[in-house]
Amino acid sequence: MDGIDLVQLTEERGTPLYVYSERKIAENARVMSAAFQDVHANTKVAYASKACSLMAVLDILRREGLSLEVNSAGELHRARRAGFANKDIVLNGVAKSRDELKQAMSPAIKAINVDSVFELERIGNVAVEHELKANIALRLVPELESGTAPGIETASSDTKFGMVVEDMDRCLSLLDGMGDHVHLAGLHVHIGSQITDKSSYAEAGLFIAEQVERVEAARGESLDHINVGGGFPMNYVKYNDQSPDLGYYRADFSHGDIAAAVLPPLHDRLGRDREVVIEPGRSMVCDTAVLLARVENIKHRGADPWLLLDAGYHTLMEAFTYRWYFHALTANRLDAHETALFRMVGPLCDNGDSFYDVEGEATIRRLFSTEPALAAHRELLEKTLIHQPGFRELPASTGPGDLIAFLDVGAYGMDQIFAINGRGRPEVAIIRPDGVVDTIRSADSMDDQYLNENFDAA
Ligand SMILES: Cc1ncc(COP(=O)(O)O)c(C=O)c1O
Repeated sequence: MDGIDLVQLTEERGTPLYVYSERKIAENARVMSAAFQDVHANTKVAYASKACSLMAVLDILRREGLSLEVNSAGELHRARRAGFANKDIVLNGVAKSRDELKQAMSPAIKAINVDSVFELERIGNVAVEHELKANIALRLVPELESGTAPGIETASSDTKFGMVVEDMDRCLSLLDGMGDHVHLAGLHVHIGSQITDKSSYAEAGLFIAEQVERVEAARGESLDHINVGGGFPMNYVKYNDQSPDLGYYRADFSHGDIAAAVLPPLHDRLGRDREVVIEPGRSMVCDTAVLLARVENIKHRGADPWLLLDAGYHTLMEAFTYRWYFHALTANRLDAHETALFRMVGPLCDNGDSFYDVEGEATIRRLFSTEPALAAHRELLEKTLIHQPGFRELPASTGPGDLIAFLDVGAYGMDQIFAINGRGRPEVAIIRPDGVVDTIRSADSMDDQYLNENFDAA
């Protein structure tokens, strides 16, 4: 990776180990910015820091001139510590506390994206009480189905996010009574993550353009910016076709294609000069990191070999929560030709700690034993309910001591690590453009096992 031998790196540093590429992070920032600015010059790219909020990653993206999207007081604190100016920070969140709101006004960031009528009232109260000023954008749901994994869908009022159009009308009348304390700077939509249906972006673009027109007509003044959110997909199955046939793992279009879908409705209705904000997270950092794990054990169940790794869902949570597919290969046997199929599992004390879909496979087995006639629909049921391949195709000689690399883990991986079963959180390294490898997050030490616990040692 970037000229560094990862097999050797793990011999020096141990496993599990995350490794990021600074070169790739910077390249993604430039490619993303250019893709949108080519279509709409006045685009601000606000990286969604929830995808990976490591200070070293924020630092790279700030140096590339990006703005930042944050989702809590903690992420806001990181943003300011990483040197982002308040005018370059937007705050989202569905349950912002009074204290979080106060921090987003001290001093005022670019926009608090308001998630409900109640929240707007709360913002007004906090601003008046502390004699502060808030810049806000109203977050709306365009009521569309984007076809991504249900857990990361945000575009309809069936989800917990944002406001429907009627709520916005209520907000506009509330704003009239808030005077200078609350400035309506923009409108916001974010339709979910890993949105692989290009027409969803066009629909969202049209929706927000219509709402901007409506608000501006009602208020008689222009908004400062229009925020069309993130959700741009990555292609997780570019290496071979061993992933399950779930549409949303595949993306065969570029950032430019997304810009060409979402921006034209804005141009048609609002002209070309408005500031447009985008909030890409996954697509900025997904393909900038690998997770390296050691095979610690092998066992044979009937004809099937099982590989037991030292990395489980405590190091890659989305493999568990959404049964997300991450491509895996045997890093020290890249040249091997003969392959075999392996079950791959992690080290934790529950059966769900696996890199195949324990829940989906069991659900199908139960359905078939309850109602054998369902077997006629096997293909459809498997496609709908099983989210990961049952077996991974790896070099046939893969076994204990080998190194498994999970690819495209740069987004929503490292930020979700946690300690469980006495297994600490792993080290995160980064390869600098000059080839130096820096540790940007140390592995937990044995003493970190009881971090923040109060006890008297015996
Ligand atoms: C409001 C908001 N903006 C941006 C993002 C980033 O989405 P993605 O990482 O899919 O680009 C998210 C993530 O869910 C979000 O909730």
